[in-house]
Amino acid sequence: MPFPTYRTRRLRESPALRRLVQETHLTPSELILPLFIVPGHGIRQEIASLPGQYHLSVDQAVTEAKAVVDHGIPAVLLFGLPESKDPLGREAYSPTGAVQQAVHAIKQAVPALVVITDVCLCEYTDHGHCGVVDGERIVNDLTLELLQRTALSHVEAGADMVAPSDMMDGRVGAIRACLDDKGYYQIPIMAYAAKYASSFYGPFREAVQSTPQFGDRRSYQMDPANAREAVREVQLDIAEGADIVMVKPALPYLDVIARVRQSTDLPLAAYNVSGEYAMIKAAARLGWLDEERAMLEALTSIKRAGEDIIITYFAKEAVRLLERGAVW
Ligand code: PBG
Repeated sequence: MPFPTYRTRRLRESPALRRLVQETHLTPSELILPLFIVPGHGIRQEIASLPGQYHLSVDQAVTEAKAVVDHGIPAVLLFGLPESKDPLGREAYSPTGAVQQAVHAIKQAVPALVVITDVCLCEYTDHGHCGVVDGERIVNDLTLELLQRTALSHVEAGADMVAPSDMMDGRVGAIRACLDDKGYYQIPIMAYAAKYASSFYGPFREAVQSTPQFGDRRSYQMDPANAREAVREVQLDIAEGADIVMVKPALPYLDVIARVRQSTDLPLAAYNVSGEYAMIKAAARLGWLDEERAMLEALTSIKRAGEDIIITYFAKEAVRLLERGAVW
């Protein structure tokens, strides 16, 4: 039906009509808010590279967790900072680490909130890499044991789910085996399955001081040029026991999200990472774009690409906008 018989603009005439034919609806129930836990008490300090995000001590994390639930957001993803860093990232698997304490305190205070923990060593190692280092090499299999210990320490503290983000081969299977062995067979794993060696993690690395002290993460994180490989990574993690698979970052990889969506029926998460957040925040500060509209457009596009879950620093702001009925 060519013009003039058919006119696509007919259904764009009014806000109500546009709502009626809107294909993609963002909802609070698919959002996960990352939180940054630091040692200490009474700390709520804004992160310079992530305006609107905070370093939170355990007590403040509990307050924040209550606010998250009040927004109707079902889950948080916890990252931690140690008292001190060392080559083996010991505080990552310390039962008294900031994350372990925060998990416990949040589950006590707000049991309904799903508490997910990021499982990785890079925030805890003095060299800033996600695994054990031998010279300039990141040693895969030795790292697995430390990741198992880290995941187990989170689950023993009460975590509802663990999310390995290290990109070592075999870590999902290793963590699954370890949790099952200890009787935690009901705890799901959200695998950072297709995680790219991205420059968009910059603000996050500043927030947790995890920039590698030598080299980069290209020997374990994926090449941004590859998409077929993402499907392979996802299939491997599923075979090893992943319950949710993730593509990260989100916006520069919408094609990967769509492709992975075609390849699995498992729940698919997308991580709208720190650099994607910071770009919008920074441009908005300069008055170069409308922050609220850009945020909703970005998040909706990630959903349109095929995700079920979005991990985003915008979670609370997005919910407030959705409740106001805001559109892009
Ligand atoms: C840890 C980890 C990183 C992020 C999540 N988990 C950083 C990295 O891999 O360098 C990035 C999150 C973000 O940028 O928002 N490995």
